[in-house]
Formats: sequence, structure tokens, C-alpha cells
Amino acid sequence: MIMKKHSRPLKGQLQVPGDKSISHRSVMIGSLANGTTRTSGFLAGADCLSTISCFRNMGIDIALDGTTVTIHGKGLHGLQAPDGTLDCGNSGTTMRLLSGILAGQQFPVRLTGDASLQTRPMRRVIDPLSTMGADIRSESGNGCAPLLTAPAGLHGIRYASPVASAQVKSCVLLAGLYADGETSVTEPAISRNHTELMLQGFGAQLSASGTTVTVQPEPELTAADILIPGDISSAAYFIAAGLIVPDSEILLTNVGINPTRDGMLEVIRMMGGTIQTENRQISGGETSADLIIRQQSLHGCTIAGGLIPRLIDELPVIAVLAAYADGTTVIRDAQELKVKESNRIDLVVSMLRSMGAEIEATEDGMIIRGGKPLHGASIETNKDHRMAMSAAVASLAADGETDIKDAECVSISYPQFYEDLKKLQA
Ligand code: S3P
Repeated sequence: MIMKKHSRPLKGQLQVPGDKSISHRSVMIGSLANGTTRTSGFLAGADCLSTISCFRNMGIDIALDGTTVTIHGKGLHGLQAPDGTLDCGNSGTTMRLLSGILAGQQFPVRLTGDASLQTRPMRRVIDPLSTMGADIRSESGNGCAPLLTAPAGLHGIRYASPVASAQVKSCVLLAGLYADGETSVTEPAISRNHTELMLQGFGAQLSASGTTVTVQPEPELTAADILIPGDISSAAYFIAAGLIVPDSEILLTNVGINPTRDGMLEVIRMMGGTIQTENRQISGGETSADLIIRQQSLHGCTIAGGLIPRLIDELPVIAVLAAYADGTTVIRDAQELKVKESNRIDLVVSMLRSMGAEIEATEDGMIIRGGKPLHGASIETNKDHRMAMSAAVASLAADGETDIKDAECVSISYPQFYEDLKKLQA
């Protein structure tokens, strides 16, 4: 797709699609609950559709109507053996969270995904689940999908996770629902807590202290209605675009600003910018607000430590922002970027370098010397949705034309991304 420099301001109001992490969890936890869960604001992107199709294949009646999903849950022990292999598509969240649920089932399952997902590390879930007594293995023994699970009794464990990963934490907590005693997970830094909040809303016994979360086994999960706020990881592209394109002013309504997800807002403050928040609301423990973004000049900063899990998916577009900011931005402790849908350290560095930015990769992040004018280039996305959207934002203030390869991969998390961008350009 060819994108051109946008010489007029971005103006207007937008509701970005529902939060991807919460959408996945609503289907999973709704399926394991007793009764009917109604979810509004659901993200009907390819990743969440993979989760729906896996649960339908295990006998759950799920109706999708626009952004409303009705899930007829059958309780913790109500899933049925699927017909054939479960396909998680491109979705790491589907595969890792589902692994925890499948570890507690009385039937064997084979689960797989697309070429990208089959290269992503699954030992991070195989190891703690095996410690719990689960029968789970990588079919080819390389620690990647396809994965095979089979019935086994699960024990509660205390797991000290080497990575701050909500997918790992959620996997272990979901398996903990089926264990014979309490299960706790301690992380090096707090990752997104949507699983904990939703499980509590459905009646599970959960407690959190510092970076440790503990779940009690065999709760009665009771269906509840869920209002899903806009995804801050999708809002991030318009936040960055509004900050970069001269004279822009954008209102993003009802964006999720859960404190385990709002790291980008903190980075913008560290870069000298302000984003106005209005109409704060809380539903199901999840905070949301309207965000008003005005173009501002920003300066570089250092992004590291416990801030990283709070903005991990936003780092590609934060790097774009840093390339347009004055001074140096250092991103550290972000080695997890290498094992996302693509190696996002390598791809971000080659994208911004080809557009004329001064940027270098480091072992665990990157260093961006911002403020150089950017120009259009041909951008390889490796079909990574977040790379395509970051390239689109970078192109808005870059001279000439930018050619985004495999641009349609945005359908993973934001099918109408280009249409929404056009609305703000009109
Ligand atoms: C997610 C957690 C994060 C994030 C991913 C969604 C989730 O991954 O990058 O897009 O929904 O739990 P990790 O848990 O591996 O960091």
C-alpha cells in the first residue's frame, strides 16, 4: 500500500476497536462460566476470531453480531473434545492462554497456528504447566507449536516467572483453576492484569500482592456482562499521529487506560508532552477515558525496567515518535520484542533507518537519535500488524511516498485501521 506525506492537520473524533486482550479473555472465561456472558465492544479482528473458533470447536455456542458477542458458557468442566486440530492462527494469546485451560481438560488436543506462531517460544508455558503435572509437549520437540496436550491431574504451584508476560501468567492462573491446591505466579514486573480482573468479576478467588497473584482452585465461575473499552494499543497509532502531524487535534473516545497498560501515556509525559484525559469510567475493574491529543514537540527519554511490560506492544510506534522527537531516546529491557509476531527490534530499526532516521539496535532494545527529517521508503512488515500501522504513522510526516508491504495484515487487530486514519485526514 502506498502512503503519502499528509500536509494537513489530523482532526476529528474516533472510537478505536475494543481491547484485544480483554476480547480474548471474554470468550475464554465466558466459555468456562455457568450461564450466558454478553460482551459489547468486542474486537472482531482475526486474532479474537481464532479464539472464538477454537471454543466453538470445543462445543461452546458463541454468537457474534458486530461488536456484540453472546457466549453460552458450560462451566469449568463443560468443554468437549474438538474435532481435529485447534488453529490459533497468528495469535500468541490464544495459544498460550488456551494451553493453560487445555491442561485441565479430560481430552487430548493438538493445537497449532500460522508460520509466525509456529516459531514463537512455547517452553515458557510448557515448563510451568509441566511442573503442575500437565501432559503438554511440543510435537517436534523444538519448544514451539504444534503443541499436544493430554489429560493429567494438576497440582498448585508457586511459579516465579523469568519473564514479565501476561500470557504466561494467565496460562498458569487458568490452569490453577483446575489444580488441587492454590497456585501463585510471581513476575519480575507487573504485566497486564485483565485475566485477574475478569476472573474476579466472574467469582474466582484471587489475590494480588506486589508482583504475585494467587488463585484458588475450582471456583464456580458465574457469567457476567462485559463492556470492553477501546484498545490503547490501537489508540497508540492515532496518539502518535496526532502528536507528529502539525496542528492536529484528535479526540479518542473510551480508551482503556488500565494502569498495567498505560505506559505510553507516561512516556509522552517523559518526552515533555501532555494528553488530556476526560470522562474517566470503570467497568469490570477496567478504567477507560476519552483522550485528547494535540500536536506537540517532544524530546527523547529513556524507556526501561517495569515500564516495558506496560507498553510492550506500543514500542514500534513509540520508536516512530522518538524519531520525530528532538534528542536521544533509549529503549532498554525490551528483549521480548524479538519474540513477538516478528522480531520487532530488527524490523523497527530497518524501517526507520530506511526512512532516514538515525537508529541502532541493541541487545535489548534500540537507541534513536531523533529530529532528522524522514523520507518515504519501501517497508517490509513481515505481515506483522503493529509494524504496518507504525509504518503508516511514520509515513504521515515523511517526505514522498512510503510503500507498506502486506499492509492488509492490520486485520489481525484493527481491520478498519486505514479507513479510520482516512476519517481523520478528511
Ligand atoms: C498479551 C500480552 C502481551 C502482548 C500481547 C497480548 C495478552 O504478550 O504483547 O499482544 O493479551 O496477554 P506477553 O504476555 O507475551 O508479553
